[in-house]
Amino acid sequence: MQYREKATLYRDLAAQLASLIEGEPDRIANAANMAALVYYGLPDLNWAGFYFTQGNELVLGPFQGQAACVRIPWGGGVCGTAAACGASVMVPDVHAFPGHIACDPVTQSELVVPLIEGGRVTGVLDLDSPKLGHFDVKDQAGCEHLVKVFLRR
Ligand code: SME
Repeated sequence: MQYREKATLYRDLAAQLASLIEGEPDRIANAANMAALVYYGLPDLNWAGFYFTQGNELVLGPFQGQAACVRIPWGGGVCGTAAACGASVMVPDVHAFPGHIACDPVTQSELVVPLIEGGRVTGVLDLDSPKLGHFDVKDQAGCEHLVKVFLRR
């Protein structure tokens, strides 16, 4: 996909997300809608969803895709790494990422964006693709923007 097309796609998704969650304070409902929006709106994904912080682990939240592992230790896997670092983690080849937690053998690449509120990581947005090296900096920037829109609520 061309860079400009991607920018347009993420801009449209952000506008749809903003209107979906407008006036709705329920985090689970908004996360469920955002997972569906992202899963059906972005190309070549096999999983899109959330893990939320509970104590020293991440617990599965709303998602689209195959059933996934429920608990991820803080610092474990791609999700736990992004949570512990408080920064997005883009993995072009999950098989080359030490400690990657395989929930679906189809997944080849992954992008995880932390939810940061008041300086705390309250969860992560996790996207999986069946294509190697699927995600690029445009996806990272686009997803970080989507997370900002989600948290504004
Ligand atoms: N692969 C993730 C686990 C979550 S699933 O991809 C849905 C990880 O390594 O943290």
